[in-house]
Amino acid sequence: MKTNRRDFVKQLGIVSASTAAVPHFNIIKSLNDNKIRIATIGMGIQGFQDTKAALRTDMCELVAAADLYDGRLAHVKETFGNHVFTTRDYREVLERKDVDAVLIVTPDHWHDRISMAALKKGKHVYCEKPMVQNIEEGAAVIAAAKAAGKVMQVGSQRISGAAFQEAKRLVEAGDIGNINFIESTNDRFNAIGAWQYSIPTDASPKTIDWETFLGDAPKRAFDPVRFFRWRNYRDYGTGVAGDLFVHLITGVHFVTGSLGPSRIYSSGQLSYWKDGRDVPDVMVASMEYPAQGKFDAFQMVLRVNFANAGSIKNVTRIVGNEGEITFGGDSLTLTKRKLPAAPGYGNGESFGTFSDAQQKEYLAAYDAKYPADSRTPEPVKEVKFDAPQGDDAHKNHFANFFEGIKDNKPVIEGPLFGFRAAAPVLACNKSYFEKKVVKWDAKNLKLLP
Ligand SMILES: NC(=O)c1ccc[n+]([C@@H]2O[C@H](COP(=O)([O-])OP(=O)(O)OC[C@H]3O[C@@H](n4cnc5c(N)ncnc54)[C@H](O)[C@@H]3O)[C@@H](O)[C@H]2O)c1
Repeated sequence: MKTNRRDFVKQLGIVSASTAAVPHFNIIKSLNDNKIRIATIGMGIQGFQDTKAALRTDMCELVAAADLYDGRLAHVKETFGNHVFTTRDYREVLERKDVDAVLIVTPDHWHDRISMAALKKGKHVYCEKPMVQNIEEGAAVIAAAKAAGKVMQVGSQRISGAAFQEAKRLVEAGDIGNINFIESTNDRFNAIGAWQYSIPTDASPKTIDWETFLGDAPKRAFDPVRFFRWRNYRDYGTGVAGDLFVHLITGVHFVTGSLGPSRIYSSGQLSYWKDGRDVPDVMVASMEYPAQGKFDAFQMVLRVNFANAGSIKNVTRIVGNEGEITFGGDSLTLTKRKLPAAPGYGNGESFGTFSDAQQKEYLAAYDAKYPADSRTPEPVKEVKFDAPQGDDAHKNHFANFFEGIKDNKPVIEGPLFGFRAAAPVLACNKSYFEKKVVKWDAKNLKLLP
């Protein structure tokens, strides 16, 4: 964090602040605000979104940005001002003494390396989801954050929205009883939704640092499609699981406090978007969450279909034995439904097949056992919760990160939590490509044989 105004003035050897106040007014004002100085590494689609969300907190200022495509560096200056230092080389950003925290918003294959390098250089880290690209990379990042004693926040920002906070409250209050099933579908039917993002006409080895982009991925000739649509390739991304499932799993872990599933299986295929990608466009995953704390075991089923030409009715719902929570944008609906104690009898079951005498006897016993008030279900109750106007999950997520830095307190999605959310989705990929059930020890962060 910055030095405060008095230190700054002392450093300058200025006796009276008022004499220096005019030319340095802006600098001094911002120092006085004690803002955290951030730099964004990876200024693509989400890099811009993250930076803007961070700035909306009014707790930080952007001092630098790194990216591998010159057009995006130019757009940084167009968007945030000429004063922002820009470079292709993220290491130059990490060397800067005026950077307190970095936002790591590169493709997934760079997350672990830049996070660890930044932590080592004493920077606080906000790293986009999924925290790492491979399960094997998680422990080292967690250890690096611990060793550095710096704050690390992982970027599944939706849990910082009012809807997820409300869901947590409802689940903890027992409003839906015991959770037994969670499902989420994320279907799409359009090219952009299927990650065929725009490629600029000036993309070339001159405007893009292709060698650096590859990082620890296999060497190959310059390919702007891979650079701008990296999600479609295993070398750089984490497929639909890492891109989409991770948000829901983060939400579920936040709401239930669960550490993660014990068994993960996924299947799928590449159905429609055969544009050279090597990840599936249809994927279904099933995860078994063991009983934990006050929660019983539950099952989770996730689906993505990028080629759903049918009607698309995406749902995300948490189902319990006394109700369910369904999410919709910034809102959620709680539906409460409780079974009566009396099971009922009649058509479509065995009662009508009993002898007349047995039916009479059965009824007498039933009446004795179930008084009238135990026979009718409680009326279904539906409660809709809308996030308060202006609720900004993305901004809240950054505010939480910055408060963590200022007050030295834990954040909502630290590296241990972030990795526990990432590992099951990375296990989905493992399951899909290796065609097997993956066993995961979420407590000890270990794959099991
Ligand atoms: N939290 C969310 O809701 C959300 C939404 C979208 C993306 N994301 C995540 O954000 C990350 C980026 O996704 P995107 O859609 O913005 O991708 P993008 O391709 O639009 O941007 C990535 C940028 O990173 C740059 N880059 C790559 N390697 C670099 C390196 N070594 N040093 C500096 N810059 C480098 C590229 O030049 C590119 O401009 C991914 O991890 C993705 O999963 C999160």
